[in-house]
Amino acid sequence: MNEWETLRSECLQCYGCSLAQTRTNVVFGDGSETAEVLFVGEGPGQNEDEQGVPFVGNAGRLLDDMLEMIGLDRSAVYIANTVKCRPPRNRDPLNVEIAACRGWLDRQMALLRPKILVCLGRIAAKELIREDFRITVEHGQWFVRDGVQMTATFHPSALLRDPSKRPEAFEDMKSIQAKVRELCSRTALRSPHDPV
Ligand code: URA
Repeated sequence: MNEWETLRSECLQCYGCSLAQTRTNVVFGDGSETAEVLFVGEGPGQNEDEQGVPFVGNAGRLLDDMLEMIGLDRSAVYIANTVKCRPPRNRDPLNVEIAACRGWLDRQMALLRPKILVCLGRIAAKELIREDFRITVEHGQWFVRDGVQMTATFHPSALLRDPSKRPEAFEDMKSIQAKVRELCSRTALRSPHDPV
């Protein structure tokens, strides 16, 4: 087994918090294990819990569209969550659950060594950028932590609930595209004229 396989198989057997009791599947992560760009969401919903893959429901379809708008495919990035098991009834993950799960994300980040980390929504931004992060004010801004460029945009579920935020999210995505162009020589960005 390589390091990713070892990590995945350990993670799939995790009983580190009570979410293990109600999950169907651990949602480890998806995408390229050599990606330069990491997206981190909040936690699995019902579809993700059933399929064991992050962002496969309505929010996932919107995330795919957001990526496509800037010429990225999910196979060119890596997608993970702050917690790997579904919180019951899609409630916010508790701090104690995020803390219990943090080691898995840290180990994924250590293997990936992303150049860019994009937090999808408030929960990921508070965990990964700053505890008092304010998504409505600070989305689209760039921060550097341990040499990694970090930013946050609105969670796709928030954009589904409130489409008026979409123009701002689009600006954030364009800023991410510019940062990928600047820093990520291995990440292929489709030009708008390429067939999708
Ligand atoms: N919302 C998230 O935050 N993560 C998923 O994987 C799906 C929906």
